Amino acid sequence: MNFTQLSPFGLLVHADETLPPESRTICSVEKNVIQELVESHLVVVFRGFIPLSTDALRDFARQFGSLLPWDFGDILDLRIAANAANHIFTAGRVEMHWDGAYLGTGRTPRYNIFQCLKGADNARGGETLFTNANAVWEQASAEDKARWRALHLNYLTEKKAHFGGAIKHPLVGRHPIHGRRVVRYIEAYNEDNAEINPVAVSIDGYTAGDSESFLRDLNERLYQDEVMYRHHWQTGDFLIADNHSVLHGRSRFEDPGDTRHLQRVHVL
Ligand SMILES: [Fe+2]
Repeated sequence: MNFTQLSPFGLLVHADETLPPESRTICSVEKNVIQELVESHLVVVFRGFIPLSTDALRDFARQFGSLLPWDFGDILDLRIAANAANHIFTAGRVEMHWDGAYLGTGRTPRYNIFQCLKGADNARGGETLFTNANAVWEQASAEDKARWRALHLNYLTEKKAHFGGAIKHPLVGRHPIHGRRVVRYIEAYNEDNAEINPVAVSIDGYTAGDSESFLRDLNERLYQDEVMYRHHWQTGDFLIADNHSVLHGRSRFEDPGDTRHLQRVHVL
């Protein structure tokens, strides 16, 4: 294997090209090595490895912990669909969020594991976006930090796919493994989602006007080049993200008909 640093964070791991293709399997990479890479880099992409069957993907994921069961099972197929009930299956952009937000404490996945069965090689847009949630915190001023730590946000979205409901969550949390502070936030004002499956966000104790100006400023901070890695999928990519350390979303597919096919597994 060899490694390429991604920008502004993340790591790309290339399969060893001296091995015969059938031997280039992600299953032969030691679990502890993968965990250390994810802990250090937050997002790790594996490229040049052979694809895994659904069962093999499940077995690969299980070595890191138990799989989070959803009502569809434990592997989610992410494809753009006509007349989708939830915007994660549309071409519009997906707001930044962390997975498992609506499930409550103790049910938040530690890892998101993706396999890309079909990439978006020539598509404009459609990148999966990752924001380093600790870096957003570290970049904030002392005054902002004091303010942020006191805030609780309310989120409301109708359950049209596998997630939804009403939750209240502190804006600032701590990573459950190493304790670093991380921003936990579901991005408000996603214009692509206004008619399909909108998310209403409010801040305890704020007027509607104060809430909107605060949230729009926070949105801008998530998309700064200094904190956001944009992943353009290639067929065959595997990607493992530390769900407690990052927020993720997706940019809009700019051309009709563009899509990609991902499989995703959550490890608790
Ligand atoms: Fe997600």
